[in-house]
Amino acid sequence: MAVKFTVLAFYLLFIRFSMTYKPVVLMHGIMTGSASMELISHRIQEKHPGTIIYNVNRFESWSSLETMWHQVMEIGQDIANISAAHPEGINVIGYSQGGLVARGVIQTFPNLTVDTFISLSSPQAGQYGAGFLHLVFPSLVKDTVYELFYSKVGQHTSVGNYWNDPFHQKLYEAYSVFLPYLNNHMTSAKSDDFKSNFLKLKRLVLIGGPDDNVITPWQSSQFGYYNTNETVIELYNQDIYLEDRIGLQTLDKTGRLHLVTVPGVNHFNWHMNVTVVDNNLLPYLD
Ligand SMILES: *[C@@H]1O[C@H](CO)[C@@H](O)[C@H](O)[C@H]1NC(C)=O
Ligand SMILES: *[C@@H]1O[C@H](CO)[C@@H](O)[C@H](O)[C@H]1NC(C)=O
Ligand SMILES: *[C@@H]1O[C@H](CO)[C@@H](O)[C@H](O)[C@H]1NC(C)=O
Ligand SMILES: *[C@@H]1O[C@H](CO)[C@@H](O)[C@H](O)[C@H]1NC(C)=O
Repeated sequence: MAVKFTVLAFYLLFIRFSMTYKPVVLMHGIMTGSASMELISHRIQEKHPGTIIYNVNRFESWSSLETMWHQVMEIGQDIANISAAHPEGINVIGYSQGGLVARGVIQTFPNLTVDTFISLSSPQAGQYGAGFLHLVFPSLVKDTVYELFYSKVGQHTSVGNYWNDPFHQKLYEAYSVFLPYLNNHMTSAKSDDFKSNFLKLKRLVLIGGPDDNVITPWQSSQFGYYNTNETVIELYNQDIYLEDRIGLQTLDKTGRLHLVTVPGVNHFNWHMNVTVVDNNLLPYLD
């Protein structure tokens, strides 16, 4: 009887361990905080008990408007520490702006152990739309806001750092200090590192969908973007992919890139929708 019980206990222990994911880091979106990521956290714990979750609580609410590089450097320190504690590997999930901060961290910090990165409706190729703009600046107009964002002052806010106006690309290149560099659209001393660090990922999952209504164009969640006449060009026809500027083509050719398109989800529901968590997040966690 005792032996049988011991065998059963070991069996249950084995099941429990085999269902535990590597630690998961959650990065919230703009104008919110870690509380907004609790549903994802709870669902992971419920389905995969024992999984360690780090829910980033820096840069919540108004401080989410601090510059992208500042957020990347601060949160990068945290993720570097988490990596040092977990050489076996970690997962990172970033929602909305948080997915762009997380990508900045992954491309910038050399010694991370991030195996899987899931970008949940993040403006990876930039943003040019009233929806996002008006979350924070209700009175600004998208056609003319470049005059503010493409200036030294305008670059002091996160949204300005990834505002990508298709009609003012020369100013974007001249003033934007974040996105053109992170995307190796503009080269810098860090360009090689940005690519080689990104290529350490075992899995990159880019989730977005046509009913998002905030990320504009929604394809930016998968590195698609407007050309200079406002036609959306998908990832596979973008220079960032064709010239493999940050490694997206290599990740794709080696089976590590997953583009996931989910209709019927508004921007504010991605992280609140259990179906999305079950169908589109959990299957990719390591
Ligand atoms: C990272 O870990 C080091 C050493 O354990 C510690 O001194 C430092 O405060 C930690 N930094 C953060 C951002 O947690
Ligand atoms: C990364 O790891 C290498 C080798 O251990 C070390 O020399 C370097 O200082 C680390 N870099 C950072 C930014 O932690
Ligand atoms: C806009 O760009 C697309 C794709 O490059 C091209 O097919 C189309 O002819 C262009 N339209 C105009 C009005 O220039
Ligand atoms: C939840 O996600 C599913 C797709 O996975 C979608 O069909 C449904 O409309 C979403 N519900 C809400 C409230 O966003």
